[in-house]
Amino acid sequence: MALARRGAATLVCRDMKLGVIGCGKMGSALVEGAIRAGVITASQVSGCDSHPAAAAAFAAATGARIADGIAGLDADTYLLCTKPHHAAAALAALPAGDARVISVAAGLTTGWLEARVPAGVRVVRCMPNTPALVGKGAAAYCRGAGASDADADAARLLLGAVGLAVELPESLMDAVTGLSGSGPAFVYIMIEAMADGGVRAGLPRAESLKLAAQTVLGAAAMVLETGLHPAALKDMVASPGGTTIAGLAELEQRGMRSSFIEAVHAAARRSAELGAS
Ligand SMILES: NC(=O)c1ccc[n+]([C@@H]2O[C@H](COP(=O)([O-])OP(=O)(O)OC[C@H]3O[C@@H](n4cnc5c(N)ncnc54)[C@H](OP(=O)(O)O)[C@@H]3O)[C@@H](O)[C@H]2O)c1
Repeated sequence: MALARRGAATLVCRDMKLGVIGCGKMGSALVEGAIRAGVITASQVSGCDSHPAAAAAFAAATGARIADGIAGLDADTYLLCTKPHHAAAALAALPAGDARVISVAAGLTTGWLEARVPAGVRVVRCMPNTPALVGKGAAAYCRGAGASDADADAARLLLGAVGLAVELPESLMDAVTGLSGSGPAFVYIMIEAMADGGVRAGLPRAESLKLAAQTVLGAAAMVLETGLHPAALKDMVASPGGTTIAGLAELEQRGMRSSFIEAVHAAARRSAELGAS
């Protein structure tokens, strides 16, 4: 069953005609990633952008064809990559018929998208994050009411080409926004603060910043690649009476753990508030 599903998923992209609506940062990153990963070829992709310079840069980077507008796209799969406030106009320009829209527009629900696509068009909502721009994204996606396994597979393969992609119920998208959507900013200030600590301990600024960033990258890779619980990995480097346990005690005393828990929760609550307004 799993094998059959994987085979079907590969076919989804082999036959796909992808039309990119909005060839800015996220549209370009997803298409470049998908081509690099061999998920699709440039000949399967056409794109349009209201900004001619963005369209030209997209064509140069991907080798895809540029269309004059949405009507000129040759597509059965539309990748909606405009800012959220441009999405309604873009969806209104879609032709009716058997097609899917994969939307990365932050905060736009499947219900909102479905109310604006023509009859017969199915939707998948995605929440990528900025590290997708360097191929290290963490994204979630959820299906609209009419979306099929093939529609979900298409989203997973495109998002998976630029990082991790997980399918979740739509009710958890605010939590995803709070964690992986806002999380990069939390980690940036952690890296900055660790680098400041290094400078305080005498390291040159440039080396301190590189060491801090690489330490975060390495620790994340240890969690993902070993499958060990972070607490087990932490215990492995905290020797009795040593340097690491001295630092950990400081972090616990200053509430670092609860700060992160509350930061993610606050961002998720704010996402829900914005979605309701
Ligand atoms: N960047 C990220 O890391 C990130 C992370 C998570 C989610 N997202 C989501 O991804 C979406 C795109 O973000 P982005 O950063 O890639 O934005 P961007 O770089 O501004 O790209 C969007 C492009 O779409 C164009 N556009 C607007 N309306 C259009 C239409 N009707 N037809 C064709 N093109 C149209 C815009 O042109 P004009 O500038 O001329 O309007 C712009 O070039 C957003 O909805 C955002 O919420 C982005």
